[in-house]
Amino acid sequence: MASFPKTDWIWRDGEFIPWEQATIHVMSHVVHYGSSVFEGIRCYNTPEGPSIFRLKEHVRRLQDSAKVYRMDAGFSAEQIGNACGELILKNGLEECYLRPIIFRGLGAAGLNPNSSPVQLYIVCWPWGTYLGEGALEQGVDACVSSWYRPAPNTHPAMAKAGGNYSNSQLIKMEALTNGYQEGIALSPSGNVSEGSGQNIFLVRNGTLITPATDGTLLEGITRDCIMRVARDLGIPVSEQPVPREMLYMADEVFFTGTAAEVTPVRSVDRIVIGEGKAGPMTKQLQERLLGIALGKLPDAHGWRTLVRSTGKDTLVA
Ligand SMILES: Cc1ncc(COP(=O)(O)O)c(C=O)c1O
Repeated sequence: MASFPKTDWIWRDGEFIPWEQATIHVMSHVVHYGSSVFEGIRCYNTPEGPSIFRLKEHVRRLQDSAKVYRMDAGFSAEQIGNACGELILKNGLEECYLRPIIFRGLGAAGLNPNSSPVQLYIVCWPWGTYLGEGALEQGVDACVSSWYRPAPNTHPAMAKAGGNYSNSQLIKMEALTNGYQEGIALSPSGNVSEGSGQNIFLVRNGTLITPATDGTLLEGITRDCIMRVARDLGIPVSEQPVPREMLYMADEVFFTGTAAEVTPVRSVDRIVIGEGKAGPMTKQLQERLLGIALGKLPDAHGWRTLVRSTGKDTLVA
């Protein structure tokens, strides 16, 4: 069993607690019914200092997800954003992954979510390449999963809710069991939806293509970055239905996500994509996005939030 890269402090409902104390009761509602919403955010080490990438949008999505499930953690977007920055400084980290999570704790027995208290924790830890060593350069082998994404109006896909990830786990386990690093799920209509924890893009005849938000996929923040960066570079972008076979016909395929960043896909179902390595457009977009996140390129869209201490309170500016 791998050991978790733990840090010293965790933020819980407005206070810092030591890592070891961040435990919950086995009868907490979330343990049985998956009643959580969460975010995954990256903080990069830039020449100016630690900088959280697209903090505002992640906090907004956390609050939107909570709204769908009628959870009110009682903290404003500003308070949550500041807590993220404070936690990074408190743990003395320069780059890390941040995981704010809102869940229903220990309350009455039974399913009714309203009888259990809503809690907000924020955890951060150092986290490298999500899909394994060398994945960002060499790419990964993926398969189309036999598991579909839930249909619209079943599990709300635009909410980043813990319960949605039981489907993701099935996709991921099937892929790993069959010798692939990642699985690509179809929507109930049979078109391509997304990876187990990433959005997916294709390049075909110079156009960047990604499945439209159809109620089966998460509206990724990295997905948004890639479409905006592509448009900045004059690359045509199309959000559209993507039939499965378009994956095999593509010149390039890549995954996007906060954890996965921009990960090239070199084969799908053992069919080699393009030249079987990161394609030129994938590399161009990957370099551009990481360049902005790492503070090597100008932040034209205002995506970086510098973490700094004001002396009295720690603030994100
Ligand atoms: C199911 C799923 N799709 C897509 C993404 C990519 O979203 P983002 O780019 O906002 O991290 C994630 C990661 O959060 C995810 O879990």
